[in-house]
Amino acid sequence: MDTQSRTLSGMRPTGSLHLGHYFGVLKNWLDLQESCCAYFFVADWHALTSDFADTSALRHNIEEMVKDWAGAGLDPEKCVIFRQSAVREHAELSLLLSMITPVSWLARNPAYKEQQQQISDRDLGNAGFLCYPVLMAADVLMYRPFGVPVGEDQLPHLELTRAIARRFNSLYGETFPEPRALLTPAAKCPGLDGRKMSKSYGNGIFLSDSLADIGTKVRGMFTDQARMRKSDPGNPDVCNLFPYHTLLTHERTLADIRQGCISASLGCVDCKKIFLAGLRVFLEPMRERRVALERCPGAVGEILDAGNALARAFAGDTLAEVREKMGL
Ligand code: TRP
Repeated sequence: MDTQSRTLSGMRPTGSLHLGHYFGVLKNWLDLQESCCAYFFVADWHALTSDFADTSALRHNIEEMVKDWAGAGLDPEKCVIFRQSAVREHAELSLLLSMITPVSWLARNPAYKEQQQQISDRDLGNAGFLCYPVLMAADVLMYRPFGVPVGEDQLPHLELTRAIARRFNSLYGETFPEPRALLTPAAKCPGLDGRKMSKSYGNGIFLSDSLADIGTKVRGMFTDQARMRKSDPGNPDVCNLFPYHTLLTHERTLADIRQGCISASLGCVDCKKIFLAGLRVFLEPMRERRVALERCPGAVGEILDAGNALARAFAGDTLAEVREKMGL
């Protein structure tokens, strides 16, 4: 492992993770923990920027997310798993970076404008929400990563991180390398009903779903809606299930499924059975790891405590240098 090549990423604790999270983000994280020195954290302060009014689920969501991470195979022996709010250095660096960040950069951030327009059930006029990208820049720059694995929606934020790094370097001397985005090729992972898989739509398959839940969900999945009878030929390219086969089913079987669908020799019920069997094999080891973790009370706390300590040590070094360079 090349300890010089560091990477870092975070997720807001929004609750249970679904297959969209797995194929969109986690899979990339799992690869990175093998190839470089990786820091992954729960962005709980970021969750507060929009969900500050009711924080009753926060602790639970953090716990569930870490269980999902560990279940999926993130290994605290191979990477550092920590909680943002437990490493207060992030707040200090965020404050210092806010001094050199023009408000105009924040106000014209496309992600900010978009969310302000789209989210109408909450008031997002708070300073914390405006400063979201400054905190994110602090999260990232603290660990001087060469790259940050994120989804496309995070690109505007990462661009700001890079701009803030350049500004810092030009004011106080070369300190922060500009991290690049490590984009996950967008895996097509529609929800059960064909819309984007999302917790709020209630159309997801969760990593922590029981075998029974998975069965019910898969049986109720939309397929090719123009295919009314088994004897009608289907079209895998508009089918909602087929993209999942491409993610989970062996290539050889995949060709048979496509052919069977087009020629009407394979019906949707049988096609779902094949998928369900594959999905069970895929999720089973995750469930086993999760159950093992749940059997040890305090295990999640221990993972985070150990990771927090490692992150704090690294962050402390960065901040010492930043304070020095800024004349503090
Ligand atoms: N904004 C990210 C998200 O919503 C979470 C996040 C916070 C993050 N800080 C980060 C991601 C730093 C990568 C690096 O998913």
